[in-house]
Amino acid sequence: MSKSMAQKRATFTALVTSFSLTIFISMFLVYIACLEEDRSIYLVLLEGDGVAFHEASHGHGDSARIDPNRGASVAHGRSILESHDLLLQNTLDIGTYTILHTFKHHINGFALYTTPSQVARLRVMAGVKMVEKDRGAKMMTTYTPEVLSLRKGIWAQEGGERNAGEGVVIGFVDSGINPLHPSFAYDPMQTFTSNLSHFVGACETGPHFPLSSCNGKIVSARYFSAGAEAVATLNASLDFLSPFDADGHGSHVASIAAGNAGVPVVVNDYYYGRASGMAPRARIAVYKAIYPSVGTLADVIAAIDQAVLDGVDILTLSIGPDDPPQDTLTFLSIFDISLLYAQKAGVLVVQAAGNKGPAPSTVVSYSPWTIGVAACTTDRRYSASLLLGNGTILDGVGLSGASFGNGTILQKLILAKDALKINGTFPRTPEYIEECQHPEAFDPNIVFASVIMCTFSEGFYNGTSTLGAIVHTSKALGFAAYILIPNPSYGDYIAEPIPFDFPGIMIPRVADAKVILQNYEDETKRDEKGSATEFCARAAVGEGRVASFTGRSPVVSRFSSRGPDIIDMKRNLADILKPDIIAPGHQIWGAWTPISALQPMLTGHNFALLSGTSMAAPHVAGIAALIKQYNPLWTPSMIASAISTTSTKHDNLGDVLMAEGFQPNSLYPSTPLDHGAGAVNPNDANDPGLVLSSGYTDYITFLCSLPNIDPNIITAATGEPCNTHLFAYPYNLNLPSVTISALKGSVSVRRTVMNIGNNRETYVGAVIPPNGTRVNLYPTLFTISPQETQDLEIQLSVTQSMEKFSFGEIVLTGSLNHIVRITLSVKPVSI
Ligand SMILES: *[C@@H]1O[C@H](CO)[C@@H](O)[C@H](O)[C@H]1NC(C)=O
Ligand SMILES: *[C@@H]1O[C@H](CO)[C@@H](O)[C@H](O)[C@H]1NC(C)=O
Ligand SMILES: *[C@@H]1O[C@H](CO)[C@@H](O)[C@H](O)[C@H]1NC(C)=O
Ligand SMILES: *[C@@H]1O[C@H](CO)[C@@H](O)[C@H](O)[C@H]1NC(C)=O
Ligand SMILES: *[C@@H]1O[C@H](CO)[C@@H](O)[C@H](O)[C@H]1NC(C)=O
Ligand SMILES: *[C@@H]1O[C@H](CO)[C@@H](O)[C@H](O)[C@H]1NC(C)=O
Ligand SMILES: *[C@@H]1O[C@H](CO)[C@@H](O)[C@H](O)[C@H]1NC(C)=O
Repeated sequence: MSKSMAQKRATFTALVTSFSLTIFISMFLVYIACLEEDRSIYLVLLEGDGVAFHEASHGHGDSARIDPNRGASVAHGRSILESHDLLLQNTLDIGTYTILHTFKHHINGFALYTTPSQVARLRVMAGVKMVEKDRGAKMMTTYTPEVLSLRKGIWAQEGGERNAGEGVVIGFVDSGINPLHPSFAYDPMQTFTSNLSHFVGACETGPHFPLSSCNGKIVSARYFSAGAEAVATLNASLDFLSPFDADGHGSHVASIAAGNAGVPVVVNDYYYGRASGMAPRARIAVYKAIYPSVGTLADVIAAIDQAVLDGVDILTLSIGPDDPPQDTLTFLSIFDISLLYAQKAGVLVVQAAGNKGPAPSTVVSYSPWTIGVAACTTDRRYSASLLLGNGTILDGVGLSGASFGNGTILQKLILAKDALKINGTFPRTPEYIEECQHPEAFDPNIVFASVIMCTFSEGFYNGTSTLGAIVHTSKALGFAAYILIPNPSYGDYIAEPIPFDFPGIMIPRVADAKVILQNYEDETKRDEKGSATEFCARAAVGEGRVASFTGRSPVVSRFSSRGPDIIDMKRNLADILKPDIIAPGHQIWGAWTPISALQPMLTGHNFALLSGTSMAAPHVAGIAALIKQYNPLWTPSMIASAISTTSTKHDNLGDVLMAEGFQPNSLYPSTPLDHGAGAVNPNDANDPGLVLSSGYTDYITFLCSLPNIDPNIITAATGEPCNTHLFAYPYNLNLPSVTISALKGSVSVRRTVMNIGNNRETYVGAVIPPNGTRVNLYPTLFTISPQETQDLEIQLSVTQSMEKFSFGEIVLTGSLNHIVRITLSVKPVSI
């Protein structure tokens, strides 16, 4: 995304300039200062509740859901708008600002497009709680598209039931949706049985998005563009002003969580299997807020504001800011505050953890009121093979068909630099000579019907060369197949399968490349100048599109952002476990948009194999929908607890989870800072026995208990006073994990569990203490009736100080076989 995020500010500034000069010519000296200032988007949070929390707006009881059409709600909404206008008119100069969005449902505020000097005036006004510059929002997919076939077994088990997710609405704040995709088709033979009385959406129409797009599976679709339009010149042939997804990302994410069951995945006429969402009967509400050219937090927060009002059950954010906020705490950015109020309104928020791994403290899901999802591999592998003339077979990566004769007929093997056009006039760069990016560099007679070896060299590392160009060259000159070998001086490279309609294979390891090159040199005759005169080496490329289900999984993906969670830009650590959980996010098949605005290689495709925490988050969102369906009264934090305490810390080989390191092919034992509570385990998450839950007031207490915090900052962000209180330590927030980033001496940590099963059950507690600590649990034996709670005290003391975090867990085993795991992550600093 980053390249396309470039903000085309120059054009916009020019417009503003001419406008200002015409109107304010007589005030030239005053306005010259303004003209030199760049305008930006600022997010402004104001005192006073949004409509969702306005007392008089509520119907009967204290249900979190509000009726937006009630008289009191409408009146409150109108008074919020009037107060915004009044504030701006009294504070700012006319013509210096534009209101992009008004936030009035879950928070009270607005997004403003204006200059720093105007914002400085606004900051000091009474009633203004916080002002923040828009950091932009990105999609959390890694750049390389990959291929993943449908893990039929796992998907069938997780979401395959014909009513899985029925009655639940999942909201997607993303790049929109492709309404014509079979993953989102409405099946008249299988009408929905629930009537969604809690959800009120709308169908906004526009380019590629007629009214019929909201078909019953897609129950609502809206788009938010004022922020994008303010900071970029949108391209009318890509940045459609409608809920239509020109990119593919939003469709991909929605299909993972809630795509129809059993949709055939066909790419380049090859059938890869069937796709199914985690909760195939959940309904989809689309909130488009990211465009191929740009994404802004202003549009994202406006989308969240609307989604809360509409009444989504679950909100999936595979997008968001890429970095921590500059001048406030991570938990207190207007984005995170917005998620707090979405949670308060009863919406479960699932966030991608980020793709900046494997470096530590790279998670961008910071707050305890969301589920931050990291990515792991699955056991599906696509491997292709290369057969050499002397009988050696090497493994590689590809997602294309075999060369001639289904990979059994050997053909001439030629290194690209030995096939260049004699006296050809082209630049002598790696791009032309060895990277096969340009057909004009080659002698067509030599390369025709041969297997050509290209090199993953400088151009691939600096981003100018692409696999797509190799395929183009291969097709143009009629190669038999291409092989992409590493440049030994750069080491092994990372290869992800990409579906291509041309035979080819990536050989990512230097050691394998050496075998091929040795065989090639042995069999190639050269003249005294070293020019090849006769090519006698032979090779064939095998079928690469057949998945095998072998090998270790899950493994935490290299790119997946890591903990520990941070409080601020200075990277002070939070006593919160992030990421929360891992879910499949490596080589995941999902719905795509043939326009494929940002991925020319995938143009025309209806499915894409992608990697990223963007793909992991919707797995958890779909699983949360299944839990919500069977347990409609569970709060967001109860669902989050159920997902965490039932997750697994072992892989399919029975070993402790492993994580990918910096080096290609390197694995190390994973810790909760990589995998959170562990790998999501949907079947057990539906029946966890006990939950550890927390709500809005607990989060306020948590914020107020942060070390060295100025309570006024918390009050400014949330409007809530900080009442200091006996047990107010951040680690006492009732999370399904315990994290202490600096343990000195001993502390006593409190937790409360509630039985949400249907039976009275007796639990026995066991402790695995983190290295360097002693841990005591009280009580270790208790019996608990349905809906009852039990307080737990966990005493931790340092026995040996350590430089790093160490990890353990508390395991509560119930007499009815429930197993509740509470992860302990502690850095024992001093005795
Ligand atoms: C539909 O909603 C109404 C009230 O809004 C309720 O009485 C009825 O039972 C619902 N029908 C279904 C199938 O849930
Ligand atoms: C807009 O997008 C189209 C399609 O990708 C592209 O051909 C065109 O150059 C773009 N226009 C601008 C001004 O960037
Ligand atoms: C082609 O080869 C693959 C193994 O490389 C095999 O599984 C497949 O059945 C073969 N296809 C045909 C049509 O022979
Ligand atoms: C290439 O250029 C050299 C020197 O200019 C010339 O001797 C040779 O004949 C040329 N070869 C071909 C194939 O044109
Ligand atoms: C990237 O590498 C290619 C191939 O050598 C080279 O031609 C190009 O100038 C490089 N570009 C940058 C931006 O370094
Ligand atoms: C084929 O040639 C390579 C390179 O010389 C060698 O490493 C490999 O062992 C050979 N394979 C066989 C089966 O002889
Ligand atoms: C715990 O500490 C011991 C001794 O310092 C060390 O051998 C062991 O590997 C550590 N275990 C873990 C899980 O870090």
